[in-house]
Amino acid sequence: MSAGGAGADGKVDHLGQYAMREIHLRKQEEDGELVYMVIKNDGEEQNMIWLVNLKNIFSKQLPNMPKEYIVRLVMDPRHHSMICMKNNTVIGGITYRPFWRQNMGEIAFCAVSANEQVKGYGTRLMNHLKEYVCDKENMTHLITFADNNAVGYFQKQGFTKDVMMEREKWVGYIKEYDGGVIIVSHDERLIRETECQLWVIEEQTINEIEGGFDDYRREVLDQLGEEVFNPSVIANQAIQQ
Ligand code: COA
Repeated sequence: MSAGGAGADGKVDHLGQYAMREIHLRKQEEDGELVYMVIKNDGEEQNMIWLVNLKNIFSKQLPNMPKEYIVRLVMDPRHHSMICMKNNTVIGGITYRPFWRQNMGEIAFCAVSANEQVKGYGTRLMNHLKEYVCDKENMTHLITFADNNAVGYFQKQGFTKDVMMEREKWVGYIKEYDGGVIIVSHDERLIRETECQLWVIEEQTINEIEGGFDDYRREVLDQLGEEVFNPSVIANQAIQQ
């Protein structure tokens, strides 16, 4: 079998092409031209810059996803991002949230900039992510809610529609993006965990909250004229999980 060229019958040898692509990408990684690493919002200025670059790629490549939602998750310190940098420029990445107790990671977003797609970077990103979460984070599963046009890519990366882990372990942890669910709750931990858009219902009106639960809490305490203390015990428990 020829490596990447045309076969004896003139047809392109696809297996060869894949192998050639892989060899080329590995060489770029060895030369330091391509770098893959996992970062999160940990207060480091450089990480913040890379996360902003990644957030911009997600916003462009996932136009149906609300921008504020992308920002919130990418900048949430509980989410990690595997980024791919080419010559020191972020060209793609995968943002995921590890659920430590379940040994499971949930992929929230995955994208490569338009001019770098279909060159194999998406595959390398996923391979690096699998290796990283397995070796460094003790994960056994990665799950995601893939919208229809991304199913092909995820299938090529070995994802299946049949979730092979116990239902109790993943139900409630996976975010679905098509359609929505309205939950009415007073439970602070539930509200924090669902990471959803917040509305407040009072005096027969409903108002959208700008920002997260802490902003709402601050606003309420301000209105009551109370001093804002650190997050409540429940908030701390939710943050630490
Ligand atoms: N549907 C079906 N197959 C797809 C696909 C899609 N939307 N996107 C890529 N593929 C295929 C490629 O053709 C390639 O096939 P091959 O290995 O047989 O050549 C394979 O998946 C992997 O391609 P690769 O070049 O490694 O991926 P990429 O660098 O283009 O990155 C995405 C793949 C999906 C991350 C990129 O196309 C992207 O950013 N898309 C827009 C955002 C998106 O839909 N993200 C996924 C949901 S969060």
